[in-house]
Amino acid sequence: MTQARQTPARKILVTSALPYANGSIHLGHLVEYIQTDIWVRFQKLRGADCVYVCADDAHGTAIMLKAEQLGLSPEQQIANVKAEHEQDFAAFNIAFDNYHSTHSEENRELSSMIYEHLVANKHIATRSITQAYDPEKQLFLADRYIKGTCPKCKSEDQYGDNCEKCGATYSPMDLINPKSEISGATPIAKDSEHFFFTLPAFSDFLKGWTRAGHLQDEVANKMAEWLDGGLQEWDISRDAPYFGFEIPGQTGKYFYVWLDAPIGYIASLKNLLDKTGGDWQEYWKPDSTAEVYHFIGKDIVNFHALFWPAMLHSAKLRTPTKICVHGFLTVNGTKMSKSRGTFINARTYLDHLNPEYLRYYFAAKLTSNVDDIDLNLEDFIQRVNSDLVGKVVNIASRTAKFINNAGGVLATEIADVALWQKCVDAGEIIAALYEARDYSKAMREIMALADAANEYIAIQEPWKLAKQAGSEAQTQAVCTQGINMFRAILTYLKPVAPSLTADAEAFLGETLSWHAPVKFRGGPAEKINEFKPLLTRVEKDKVDAMTEASKEALATAAPKIVATQVESAMEPIAAEIDFNDFAKVDLRIALITNAEHVEGSDKLLRLTLDLGSETRNVFSGIKNAYDPNDLIGKLTIMIANLKPRKMKFGMSEGMVLAAGPGEKEIYLLEPHAGAKPGQRVM
Ligand code: MSP
Ligand code: ZN
Repeated sequence: MTQARQTPARKILVTSALPYANGSIHLGHLVEYIQTDIWVRFQKLRGADCVYVCADDAHGTAIMLKAEQLGLSPEQQIANVKAEHEQDFAAFNIAFDNYHSTHSEENRELSSMIYEHLVANKHIATRSITQAYDPEKQLFLADRYIKGTCPKCKSEDQYGDNCEKCGATYSPMDLINPKSEISGATPIAKDSEHFFFTLPAFSDFLKGWTRAGHLQDEVANKMAEWLDGGLQEWDISRDAPYFGFEIPGQTGKYFYVWLDAPIGYIASLKNLLDKTGGDWQEYWKPDSTAEVYHFIGKDIVNFHALFWPAMLHSAKLRTPTKICVHGFLTVNGTKMSKSRGTFINARTYLDHLNPEYLRYYFAAKLTSNVDDIDLNLEDFIQRVNSDLVGKVVNIASRTAKFINNAGGVLATEIADVALWQKCVDAGEIIAALYEARDYSKAMREIMALADAANEYIAIQEPWKLAKQAGSEAQTQAVCTQGINMFRAILTYLKPVAPSLTADAEAFLGETLSWHAPVKFRGGPAEKINEFKPLLTRVEKDKVDAMTEASKEALATAAPKIVATQVESAMEPIAAEIDFNDFAKVDLRIALITNAEHVEGSDKLLRLTLDLGSETRNVFSGIKNAYDPNDLIGKLTIMIANLKPRKMKFGMSEGMVLAAGPGEKEIYLLEPHAGAKPGQRVM
């Protein structure tokens, strides 16, 4: 017998789009990261040499303003968000080989290098342009930061580039009474020198590239519309103040975030390979035999399918093998909505539900096309319960115990050879569907096998056999068949449900591998461990609690910090909040200008608090701890943005912070010496 020559493993680099460092990961994002992670796990399981890298997209005006609003430096802001993103991704079993940041030395170096190539090839042009400028904030304003009255239909409060009411498009300086969203100042027109990437020079190259199998047909068609309409030069510079990389050789000019963002893919790879002893050029040199796959959403196609290949081409680097574009997530058939509680953050989901459910549900819905995908919450419950719990886990729970009861050993022979062969043969079909990102069809194939297994078990009725004397061998054979079908099914499901599979592997006492067709397992040496329930059903009240919590996140400006009402130390810790929730709490130094008893209340004092710019009336439950006269003239700390609350004795406009066991022992927090009323505490 001659051994087939081993073909070398495919070498594949995979990326997901780099999430912006100014917000939390939500279920919409997760469509992409789950889609990509499944593909990567599939490739690795099949023996490919596959690396999956990502990073936070840390640059731009939005992130700079967000940091400022939170009273943080941009570096602190992006570090906080990166930590949060990494936690969320890990909880959803998104297994990056590296997670980096676009605000990194590797990215600065690579961005300069690529930019220098563009300059050397005369693909960078400079000219002066006129833009709206905020004279107060001293900042050029992107269209979305300007609002005013539509010049056409006179609707108020319209954004700088188009009117939501009548659909008119215009330049922000045409707005009637334009205002900067940042400072409220009236923008002025101001000139400055900008740097442009000469995209039209790549028109022919892109016409070929977009039709050379790198894009889905519908994406290629969309790009053809752009290409036929004629390409414009792309403005790749922004003026200070800007959080990003200064353009080499310039002062006060920065790379536009979208210039260095895709280079961040290479930077994250470099960061990884510098640690493991590889070379990023292996993947990116023009004649590289590695494959490069970018997974992205349909909103950012032009950056990846036009600008990016053109830049790479100019810089003499290879272009991506494939851009894999997915659609947008809707929930219950419509756009995710904060008021309906369907704008669900990753963290909120995790507070209530098992991530494996969502991974499976998305897999069951994802295809290789760009259609939007809908998370219908009723269907989600039904689908996960019926498929994962009712079909897949059920196979093991109906057969394992009879094997366990008889010593845990699997039978030597296959009971139903044809049925087993069907499971083995399905492997190649399912693999091809994964490869093509047709997960929805792959899940259908897998569930068809699960149906076949359950049908077999229902006909064989091992629970009856187990009670009949003399049927031990047959019971073992039937259940061995069931366990083996379960093994095959879980092997195929492993990219989608890594935690479920890991638990099943513990019970099976083996690591499921898919390098080759699945092999039957049985014989006196093949023992399985005791079966434990693998997955619980999705409960409707958990789903409801999740949407409720998503509503709440919007309704209450500030989380509950009850300090004046001292709670028992036995109280369980409340549900986790993310840093952004905490950062919404506006803590201020307050001067107590008056304190008095409240008639009819044996707990409360009425405090008059000076915040520098305004005074507040606050009721506080500290009557037994303080003589009001002692408080007057003292500084304390208050939550200044708590929604005013109507109490029996009047409106309470905030809350002071205090701690202690209660009654006489409550201590108002005191700020540091030299604190001034109105100062923010953090
Ligand atoms: N920072 C850019 C990407 C730079 S890549 C060099 C960005 N960030 S993002 O945070 O807005 O989005 C990250 C990815 O999530 C994008 O591919 C985007 O299409 C995807 N999604 C964001 N919201 C989504 C939905 N509601 N549904 C599906 N995908 C969504 O774009
Ligand atoms: Zn209008």
